[in-house]
Amino acid sequence: MLLNLLWALGRPILFQMDAEEAHELTLRWLPTLTPLLKLLSSPPRQPCKVGPLQWGNRVGLAAGLDKNGVGIEGWEALGFGAIEVGTVTAIPQPGNPKPRLFRLKEERAIINRMGFNNLGAEHLALRLKGLRDRDAWPSVPVGANIGKSKIVPNEDAAQDYKKSLAWLRGMADYFTINVSSPNTPGLRALQDREPLARLLEAIVPDAHGTPVFLKIAPDLEPEALADAVEVAITTGCAGIIATNTTLSRPGSCGRVEEAGGLSGDPLWPLAREKIGGLLQVANGRLPVVGVGGIHSPAQVQELLWLGCAAVQIYSGMIYEGPGLPARLGAAGYK
Ligand SMILES: Cc1cc2nc3c(=O)[nH]c(=O)nc-3n(C[C@H](O)[C@H](O)[C@H](O)COP(=O)(O)O)c2cc1C
Repeated sequence: MLLNLLWALGRPILFQMDAEEAHELTLRWLPTLTPLLKLLSSPPRQPCKVGPLQWGNRVGLAAGLDKNGVGIEGWEALGFGAIEVGTVTAIPQPGNPKPRLFRLKEERAIINRMGFNNLGAEHLALRLKGLRDRDAWPSVPVGANIGKSKIVPNEDAAQDYKKSLAWLRGMADYFTINVSSPNTPGLRALQDREPLARLLEAIVPDAHGTPVFLKIAPDLEPEALADAVEVAITTGCAGIIATNTTLSRPGSCGRVEEAGGLSGDPLWPLAREKIGGLLQVANGRLPVVGVGGIHSPAQVQELLWLGCAAVQIYSGMIYEGPGLPARLGAAGYK
């Protein structure tokens, strides 16, 4: 209730601001507000299995909102059933020049070309260690999403991912290998069958048993999607997270001439289609976490009916507010 009131007051102010400034302000305030959030909220407990993990409910935080893991306790208090931080890279990097984050308010969408701005895997590892040392580790799984450092060529990608893993091993409950962000030149070529197989064969054993998920793009053709599923299975991945942002510009989104990945409402039809295709290929052999344009219990239900194990959200919360995870997580699903 109070959360809704805070959102009703805060939203117009945040939406007047530059999108990235509003994002940074929210992240700066989240740790301060966390004790209050903990007092006010009762995170929905509807435990479910996602591969080897037990999520607190069906709705997780998607990667990219909290790249450096500054608000983990706050996300738990808001009711997420799992929390994915990152993307982090082995080499800390500033990301692309600003502006690089754009709201498409009418379409309830976002275009971003952040380019993995992050403080690095070592920094995230220390932060996660701090939580563990303080006995403040959430009761829901925390995943670390890992990407390739921009200056590292694709031939050396495996070594770069392994460096991040070495920092984060033992710290996160699961890892996500991100080969699908459109804002690191050449990254998505790592989704092709051969390079993907080489990469995952090198990385998965290095996780020493911590589950490794693969995150893929919605712009893959059906054949490439099928390849990604088969490679994920043969290399021992624990599941697939689909989808990342799209380079396409459905409907009226083309009116905004900014490069980058599109997320939010207009991504839903494409994400849903690709998730459906993935689930058919996976045929129960591998859990799929659905993500892309989700903002209502009906959408969560649709993906669960299709066969997803759980979902993640990002853009929906920007438009619907911080009450969304608890609202979606608490809904009764069949
Ligand atoms: C500003 C922004 C930054 C993002 N950064 C990352 C990232 O660093 N790593 C990643 O795997 N996905 C990233 N994503 C993609 C989201 O995790 C998610 O897959 C995508 O936005 C679709 O979900 P949505 O429509 O609920 O936002 C980012 C999305 C946005 C909007």
